[in-house]
Amino acid sequence: MRIAIGADHRGFSIRTKVADFLKQRGHEVEDVGTFSPEAVDYPDIAAEVAGRVSRGQCDRGILVCGTGLGMCIAANKFHGVRAAPCHDDLTAELSRRHNDSNILCLSADLLGERLIDRMIELWLNTPFEGGRHARRVDKILDLERRVEEENKQ
Ligand code: RB5
Repeated sequence: MRIAIGADHRGFSIRTKVADFLKQRGHEVEDVGTFSPEAVDYPDIAAEVAGRVSRGQCDRGILVCGTGLGMCIAANKFHGVRAAPCHDDLTAELSRRHNDSNILCLSADLLGERLIDRMIELWLNTPFEGGRHARRVDKILDLERRVEEENKQ
């Protein structure tokens, strides 16, 4: 898979480990930074990753900030993006099975490295279940289109 990854200063050191983890498993990684521990604003990084996923340049994205929450809120502004703030195996798995999440948002402060690796592995390898869940995901896309139409008027 082609995977975009990004982190703010809080996720800076984890980002490199995540990139290595993905490359070792044969994935192509687009690393958008941040490339130094200096403070940056998470919406700028989220936009780089979510934009790539929204445009179809990358299949998936992974974002890391202090809590994973700010990244998630920003990423979900992009069309077709379903960013999920996951904090354990179950949320990582269900965000794929039920929500077809295409961006995984992680907390640098609250999750250990081994847990993060396990969650990423699960998230990458769990398929979307489709069926009734596909109907619901389609409704999310309908909502996006409706809001876009309303904003044009
Ligand atoms: C940055 O201080 C912090 O707010 C950010 O990493 C993240 O936790 C936001 O949700």
